[in-house]
Amino acid sequence: MALTATWNTAHLTRKADTCVAIGVTYEGRDPRLLERLLPFADCIEVTLETIAEVHDGEIALSREVMHELKNIGRAAQIVVHGVGLSIGSHEGWSPTYFRLLDEFLEQVDVAWHSEHLAYTRVDGQHLGIMLAMAKTHEALDLICERVDAIHARYKLPFLLENVVHVVPDAPGDFSEAGFLNALAARTGCGLILDVYNLECDAHNQGFDIEGFLAELDHRHVRELHVACGVEDNGFLLDVHSRLVRPSTLDLAERVVRSANGAVQVVTYEFMPEAIPGLGHDAIVQQLLELRRVLGRLP
Ligand SMILES: [Fe+2]
Repeated sequence: MALTATWNTAHLTRKADTCVAIGVTYEGRDPRLLERLLPFADCIEVTLETIAEVHDGEIALSREVMHELKNIGRAAQIVVHGVGLSIGSHEGWSPTYFRLLDEFLEQVDVAWHSEHLAYTRVDGQHLGIMLAMAKTHEALDLICERVDAIHARYKLPFLLENVVHVVPDAPGDFSEAGFLNALAARTGCGLILDVYNLECDAHNQGFDIEGFLAELDHRHVRELHVACGVEDNGFLLDVHSRLVRPSTLDLAERVVRSANGAVQVVTYEFMPEAIPGLGHDAIVQQLLELRRVLGRLP
């Protein structure tokens, strides 16, 4: 089921100084940071699992954080970005994720919601990591069926994001870009391109970013993620603990330009655990840098 009509009306608003909206993660419980972010962010990205708490054995969204998010009002739009759905698990996805999403959407208006094109669970065992899907017809059919079900359930634009390849892909039927093109064309879902993840794959697996971008149908790319992690034993990790490298900003700028208006938001992602190390000032400066870089585009 293509949701072209939904995408036609799903536009993130932005301040006048940039060609796309600027987004930033915020996981609650740091109101002083939120106050600093809002003047420079058009969009706040919320991860449900991070704002969830367990009470009496039941997982539910933190009332304190939901109160904060409801108070944002018109100061910024909110998008949901999940990590726990495990859309690619062969035995099924997480029902808990949908319960959290239902609870969230009952309370807060969102522009769209998104997840990762990956699986985090095998045979009921949590992997503690996201693994990229095999690029096979069978995997494509499974994901498309599930995206259709998500569209039918929520009537909201839904996006899927490329994850880092912790291990090389097994031989498949599609290239990386070919799989994303087919997925978006068949379901009408949007794509989030995490350009730092592309750089990790290039560093760790020799991934050909230029070949990928040349093959990717940019019309489906609605959002970009920028972030930075650390290198460990020669492996570049997507731990989201640092400020964005110039090469990542350049890549984001290039994709926004070549997507010809399809990209609506570029989001800076960092883990809550990284905030003390980064500091509020540096995070604000990062948003200003994004506004500067993306402000010079036509
Ligand atoms: Fe990301």
